Amino acid sequence: MSNLSFVPQSETSAWQTYLAQVDRVVPYLGPLSRWADTLRRPKRCLIVDIPIELDDGTVSHFEGYRVQHNLSRGPGKGGVRYHPDVTLDEVMALSAWMTVKNAAVALPYGGAKGGVRVDPKKLSRRELEKLTRRYTSEIGLVIGPDKDIPAPDVNTNGQIMAWMMDTYSMNVGATVTGVVTGKPLTLGGSLGRVKATGRGVFVVGRETLRRLGTDLNGVRVAVQGFGNVGSAAAEMFAGNGAKIVAVQDHTGTVYAPDGLDIANLMGELRAHGGIGNFAGGERIADEAFWDVETDVLIPAALESQLTAERARRVRTKVVLEGANGPTTPEADLILGERGITVVPDVIANAGGVTVSYFEWVQDFSSFFWTEDEINLRLDKILAGAFRQIWETAEHHRIPLRTAAFVVACTRVLQAREERGLYP
Ligand SMILES: NC(=O)c1ccc[n+]([C@@H]2O[C@H](COP(=O)([O-])OP(=O)(O)OC[C@H]3O[C@@H](n4cnc5c(N)ncnc54)[C@H](O)[C@@H]3O)[C@@H](O)[C@H]2O)c1
Repeated sequence: MSNLSFVPQSETSAWQTYLAQVDRVVPYLGPLSRWADTLRRPKRCLIVDIPIELDDGTVSHFEGYRVQHNLSRGPGKGGVRYHPDVTLDEVMALSAWMTVKNAAVALPYGGAKGGVRVDPKKLSRRELEKLTRRYTSEIGLVIGPDKDIPAPDVNTNGQIMAWMMDTYSMNVGATVTGVVTGKPLTLGGSLGRVKATGRGVFVVGRETLRRLGTDLNGVRVAVQGFGNVGSAAAEMFAGNGAKIVAVQDHTGTVYAPDGLDIANLMGELRAHGGIGNFAGGERIADEAFWDVETDVLIPAALESQLTAERARRVRTKVVLEGANGPTTPEADLILGERGITVVPDVIANAGGVTVSYFEWVQDFSSFFWTEDEINLRLDKILAGAFRQIWETAEHHRIPLRTAAFVVACTRVLQAREERGLYP
């Protein structure tokens, strides 16, 4: 249980899940474990009130957060989420997972996250812009290109990043493109950013199969979620010889043992907003998705999809976490016992933040790279990070998730020790 007065004492909160993960890692930290409480406390939590005048003339208040979990290795980095259920507890946990993700890939960032308790679908575009600008001004105290760099997350996008960049720039009196990433290309955004997470899922999957001695050619892949991450990952796997045997989104599940035509499936998505009625495959019950025989299963939709019950049923060699937190802790143990390799989100979906890092570097130098350079560098960074995590797992005989935390937390605490405590 957390001993922080400002978080709920609930066994099931996201922050408690994170604390349990830290406990699992401490035995592998050696002398650095004396710094472990650093990981159990966010460095800084800012809660802000966001009042805006709605189109009907009434005034509405929204609650916003920016949490910087750890800044030992560099400025904060992490997305901004707009959702009616966002809480301080959740933002704290998400910021801590960003500390781990950034350190696992050795990006020179700490971990941060932001959120506003709002249902953006209930706001007009004008209201959404007002909310975003006031939120940015309120957290302007703690963000900046060398302090903390927000990015898109659930329900935020390039337009919202453009408004954040403009607001911050107006407040400081200069155009500061590097204050946020995930911007449109015309405002200092990076080529390759849109497909970066899916591309990264593929790179990490390819490396996993190589370690397991499985040929990528003809490998059977099933993907849950055909959005930004799932569709790009499916496209990359299919383009490299894999067969995408099942895809599921919120409109249904399609199955084709000889492989779905991904280009046609993308066309179906564009035309109908979902793939459930795709004629190029057999429609199966949603629950049957988890029974399809595969080599690689990619949950790339929502959190907690791979439950204990489904973990007992799935027939696959590898679970490759495209989504954040798709596997419940209980399911994780079951998959481990069944000898299924689980490649954790902190490395499998780190392609997005890696290209965000490239965007930030390009903004600083005002010199933009080609898409080929970006894809090449992304591949090299992720493959290198994966190698280190795999070797750590082998060395300690621990799951890849724990190994990723060992690699990441060692980096964070080493930085803390070398910097020393101020004053
Ligand atoms: N976009 C990124 O760069 C990025 C980076 C890291 C992690 N992630 C994580 O990846 C996951 C997916 O993100 P995204 O950007 O692709 O989102 P998205 O909104 O583009 O796509 C989500 C997909 O999930 C499907 N889906 C929703 N509810 C479902 C349900 N009940 N059953 C089956 N499918 C369902 C949707 O139909 C859609 O195809 C999230 O967990 C997100 O946090 C995204």
